[in-house]
Parts: sequence; structure tokens; C-alpha cells
Amino acid sequence: MPAVVLAIANQKGGVGKTTTTVNLGSALSRQGVPTLIIDMDPQGNATSSLGLEKKPGKGVYEPLLSGADLSGRVLSTGRKNLWIVPSELDLAAAELELSSQENYLTKLRASLDRLKNEYGLQCILVDCPPTLGLLSMNSLCAADHLLVTLQSEYLALEGLGQIVGVIDQLKNAGANPGLSLGGIVMTMYDNRTRLSYEVWQEVSTHYPDKVFRTAIPRTIRLSEAPSFGKTIFEYDPKSVGAQAYLAFTKEVVDRFLTQS
Ligand SMILES: Nc1ncnc2c1ncn2[C@@H]1O[C@H](COP(=O)(O)OP(=O)(O)OP(=O)(O)O)[C@@H](O)[C@H]1O
Ligand SMILES: [Mg+2]
Repeated sequence: MPAVVLAIANQKGGVGKTTTTVNLGSALSRQGVPTLIIDMDPQGNATSSLGLEKKPGKGVYEPLLSGADLSGRVLSTGRKNLWIVPSELDLAAAELELSSQENYLTKLRASLDRLKNEYGLQCILVDCPPTLGLLSMNSLCAADHLLVTLQSEYLALEGLGQIVGVIDQLKNAGANPGLSLGGIVMTMYDNRTRLSYEVWQEVSTHYPDKVFRTAIPRTIRLSEAPSFGKTIFEYDPKSVGAQAYLAFTKEVVDRFLTQS
């Protein structure tokens, strides 16, 4: 079975995409699911959150442009069952260069093709930048499912409609006919506010069956961990943030990684 590819995306910045990618990847790998993270964001936050450096000439940039196999860019994260294709600054330039190429939407998919059957990988997580530009579009075209992280705040639903609409656009254009909305995970959820609950309710009404039961709470521990290059399971495994990401991971496994 080829690895399942999940793109973690939202065109809005700072809504927990990277935190979710890194901690979901960590939880999966610790449960014995061989997982690869692809850092498609020129900011390289997923790379640095795992304690690694952006490496000029060693990231996803060149294979993305050439459509070459990504296998040679896979690095160990120093953790069992967890690998990464790191980001590099030039990725921002890649976006521009891509636009003049043929098949500019499906470059990442072509580069990933072989990798899906290597390292015994069962899951590939693609951390997207906060735009709907070509880096995110390539991620969505390479993915089986889109996971949207949605911050529990006013107007969250507006942006959600936009990114979910991209799924249909890519399908209609024939760029990725198999893409589906895999799920919506509420992040930075604050139990004490009515607003968080109302946003959840509203999103659930619009997208029944898509919202994960687990909401990720707003907690300082989750924001501290990356500065130590650690996942929440390494930094504070007993914290509420770790418990939430564990419960979320279980839902992800049930939804995408368990064969029925
Ligand atoms: N549940 C949470 N509780 C508290 N802080 C959080 C939580 N999730 C993320 N953060 C913090 O919020 C900030 C934004 O999170 P993150 O980097 O995961 O978002 P992002 O969507 O990847 O951002 P960008 O769009 O810039 O890539 C970071 O400083 C992160 O540590
Ligand atoms: Mg990010």
C-alpha cells in the first residue's frame, strides 16, 4: 500500500498548521507508523520545530522544479519512524519559477510518486505555507486528503469556504481528481469562551462529519516546545496539549490509516 498523503493547509497564517503537522507526525511515528513530513513552507517552521536547520540545496526546492524523485532529500529527524524533507529559503523563488513550467500544479506529486512506496512509509504529511499559491496548490495536488486547521475565532468560516472551494477547482481542472476534504481540526480552542464553542457548532453544521471530535486547546506548552526543537511528546508528554494531539492522532488513524 502506498503511503497516505495528507496536506495540512489553510491560507490564513498562524492557525496551527505547523504545530499540527509536527505533533501529528510525532504521535504517529511513536505509535509505529512510519511517517514523512514535507516542509513546503519557505519559513521552514516544521523543519526548525524538529530541531533541524534549513539546508540550502538540500530541501524540496530543486526536485520540485525538476520533477525529480524526492527520495534523495529525505533526512532522518533523529527519531524512530520519522523523516523529513526540509524546507529551504529558495522555496519562495520556486513558486515563481514553477508558474512558467508545464504541469506546474503536479510537480510535487510527480516527485513523491516513488517515495510513497519507500521506507515502509504509511503516512506523508505536507505542511503548507499560509497562502493559496503554487506551493500549497502543489501540496494539494500531491495529497489524498486535505486537513484544514481552523483557529476557533470569529470569521473562521469565511476562509474555510475558500480553501474547501479549491478542492473542487483542482478536481474540475483534472489536476487531482481524487482529492477530498479529509477533515477540519479546531485549534487554539478555548473552553472558557462561548465563541470557541459557537465557531465549532457553526463549522459542524456546514461540514457535518468533517470536524474532528478532538479540539486542540490553546496552551502555552504547545507554543514553547518548538523553541527547544522538541515535539510536545518530548517536551511535556503529560500536558493537555500532548493529550489532545494524541486523541486527534487516534482519529486520524481511524479515518485514514485503518483499512476497512
Ligand atoms: N494550541 C496552541 N496553543 C497555543 N499556541 C499555539 C497552539 N498552536 C499553535 N500555537 C502557536 O501559535 C503560533 C502559530 O502556530 P503555527 O506555527 O503552528 O501556525 P501555522 O498555521 O503553521 O503558521 P504559518 O501560517 O505562519 O505557517 C506558533 O507560535 C505556535 O507555537
Ligand atoms: Mg506553519
